Amino acid sequence: MLQDGKIYIGTSRKPDDTNNKGEYLDLRYGNRHGLVTGATGTGKTVTLQVLAEGFSDAGVPVFCADVKGDLSGISQMGEAKDFLAKRAEQIGLDPYGFEEFPVIFWDLYGEKGHRVRTTIAEMGPLLLARLMNASEAQEGVLNIAFKLADQGGLALLDLKDLQALLNYMAENAQEISAQYGLVSKASVGSLQRALLVLEQQGAAHFFGEPALKISDMMRVTNDGRGAISVLAADKLMMNPRLYATFLLWLLSELFEELPEVGDPEKPRLVFFFDEAHLLFNDAPPVLIQRVEQVVRLIRSKGVGVYFVTQNPMDVPETVLAQLGNRVQHALRAYTPREQRAVKTAAETFRPNPTFDCATAITALGTGEALVSMLEEKGVPSMVERTLIRPPSSRLGPITDQERQKVMQMSPVANQYDVDEDRESAYEILMARAAKTAQPEPAPQQSAPQPGQDNGTAGGRWTLPGFGDKPADDEREQPRPRSGYQRETVVEAAMKSVARSVASSVGRALVRGILGSLKR
Ligand SMILES: Nc1ncnc2c1ncn2[C@@H]1O[C@H](COP(=O)(O)OP(=O)(O)OP(=O)(O)O)[C@@H](O)[C@H]1O
Ligand SMILES: [Mg+2]
Repeated sequence: MLQDGKIYIGTSRKPDDTNNKGEYLDLRYGNRHGLVTGATGTGKTVTLQVLAEGFSDAGVPVFCADVKGDLSGISQMGEAKDFLAKRAEQIGLDPYGFEEFPVIFWDLYGEKGHRVRTTIAEMGPLLLARLMNASEAQEGVLNIAFKLADQGGLALLDLKDLQALLNYMAENAQEISAQYGLVSKASVGSLQRALLVLEQQGAAHFFGEPALKISDMMRVTNDGRGAISVLAADKLMMNPRLYATFLLWLLSELFEELPEVGDPEKPRLVFFFDEAHLLFNDAPPVLIQRVEQVVRLIRSKGVGVYFVTQNPMDVPETVLAQLGNRVQHALRAYTPREQRAVKTAAETFRPNPTFDCATAITALGTGEALVSMLEEKGVPSMVERTLIRPPSSRLGPITDQERQKVMQMSPVANQYDVDEDRESAYEILMARAAKTAQPEPAPQQSAPQPGQDNGTAGGRWTLPGFGDKPADDEREQPRPRSGYQRETVVEAAMKSVARSVASSVGRALVRGILGSLKR
């Protein structure tokens, strides 16, 4: 529900439990980030759903992960259930209308959504080291591997490529150590084993091509609503490190790819980071520091990041300090640790003289929360005890059939669903290897062009511009990142890696804050 550039979240209560006033998220401060916290079953996902609906209605694309499958209902028209109607009446939401939202489902495994992939090269050494839980020595080896690949023009696309490069490094450890720093066989061996584990966990699905184009997550429908990208994450959650690394990679992609916009009227994209504790759990300090940096800087690119987690203490202090829009659902306070968390949570709010924050946090009902949003000049509003509005879309999961239908209607239908044919790619590369001196042709684009009506979506979608040139133009050009290295490691090995490394002119690729490729 939209009103003068604000998203209606719910209605706050006076001490005598009568309605106080509507609580709104001001779109101008939507890029000042946010935090949704609360114990299990207190209403976090519904709050996320309500916020996502609001952003979409305002024309702001949204990305969120669906950890339990219960967010998928946002793609369907809501239904007038009794308890929802009751909540609507309680807060004076009249009329309480229903709406289905333009959803694009994504899934690393390609089962419950369109495939999401990236290449090893694009993920970069820092995040990859995190994904592989690498020690410092192993991370050093990974860095050298990337340096070798960058300088030698070797494409690191999938796990196989990295495996091949590591094999090469093990065989030539002495020579490489002399030139780049210590590459111990033990470290390489550990990395090779870690790669095997990753493969067994199904991470191979995630590495390869066609890689995700960020612009596909920034679509707007023809009637001006922002696409809601929902990542099916129930299976993914079984590999928490892959989940966290993937979301970090996505965040860093947004950061590296989007231009500066200063403080826009409304965000260009809002990114919900559910189960955010997984991001910070035993993450090395350097990574936390980089995340803090990305969160701070991505604001001026018009991206709002909203962390969703049980406990505000899950988020490091430096990150927490940057989260302006806050919704705190109920917390329990039985153990001393829980009591500390309640105290911490209470202390982050601008106090309201009519109630005690800490007491209120433990007494909140389901779908009720302490809410404080940024107001004029970006000052946090006084905290209010708020009944969150019921969503306009369906509450709860959808059926497989409904999901299939949404996926067929999707503007990216058929674009990501099939792996790029490895075998024919290999043949092409073999052929090209034979005439290495010739310049590379632009990569072929066989998938239907997004932005064009793909016949099933009814011309419902448009592509966002990226600031400096029409989106379609951008589409036509081969992307530098996929164009720069078209040879696989296997192929390059045939041409003698040693030679290419030794004679390299050192065209190292520029990498961004989180170590992913910078463009
Ligand atoms: N704003 C609301 N209006 C009406 N009902 C609500 C609201 N918020 C939550 N509820 C009710 O509470 C239930 C649990 O909410 P929700 O799934 O959002 O909890 P959660 O905090 O995400 O839990 P978990 O940590 O287990 O994921 C919902 O299924 C719904 O029945
Ligand atoms: Mg939930």
